[in-house]
Amino acid sequence: MQSSNNNEIRILALVGSFRSGSFNQALIQEARELASEHIRIDDFDLRTVPLYDGDLEAAGDPEEVAALKRAIARADALLIATPEYNGSVPAVLKNAIDWASRRTPDSHLRGKPVAVMGASPSPGGTRRAQVHLREILDRTGADVIDEPSLYLARAFEHVTDGRLTSEDAREAVREIFGWLVDTVAINSAEAVNSAEAVGVAG
Ligand SMILES: Cc1cc2nc3c(=O)[nH]c(=O)nc-3n(C[C@H](O)[C@H](O)[C@H](O)COP(=O)(O)O)c2cc1C
Repeated sequence: MQSSNNNEIRILALVGSFRSGSFNQALIQEARELASEHIRIDDFDLRTVPLYDGDLEAAGDPEEVAALKRAIARADALLIATPEYNGSVPAVLKNAIDWASRRTPDSHLRGKPVAVMGASPSPGGTRRAQVHLREILDRTGADVIDEPSLYLARAFEHVTDGRLTSEDAREAVREIFGWLVDTVAINSAEAVNSAEAVGVAG
């Protein structure tokens, strides 16, 4: 675990929509309500991140990019809620991942547990966007999960005033959140075990 407080799990939430009343923000809002004394959800406003530009990067990461990388490094896991735009991932999410994937000196996405979910008014429920997003994350070396998953179709039937109202959708978010927390706990226990093994061997 990356957290300074050993008892705390930190999950960084990223959302590919800034719209007020966003269905995808509603998914993250549900996850926020599952946070507890020991599980913290951090947000990062992707609007602040400039478009990827190799010249900007060569001159040193802009502060907003450095802040994004720090937020990813601090997090034990990422939880991403993505809309689907023209059958794929919104540019804001792809842009953030492109910056974060750069090895300066190392990408903090490598090995990071990531869960993906998404909501749309269409019957597909962001399935195509999530397929692309998982492929992109896979390329970065992130540890992205396939299941449990949430493709929230006809989202207008499940969201009212920016809140998830259907029990099925809420349960799906709970399952994904639970998986993420369990994965972080298992990784943490494995890290402790291997550190102890090295200690014994040394
Ligand atoms: C440029 C653009 C392209 C879109 N393409 C798709 C699409 O391919 N599939 C889909 O299900 N919805 C598509 N939509 C509709 C979005 O799913 C809808 O706007 C959704 O509410 C966005 O997520 P949000 O509620 O979190 O803002 C598109 C919307 C925009 C603005």
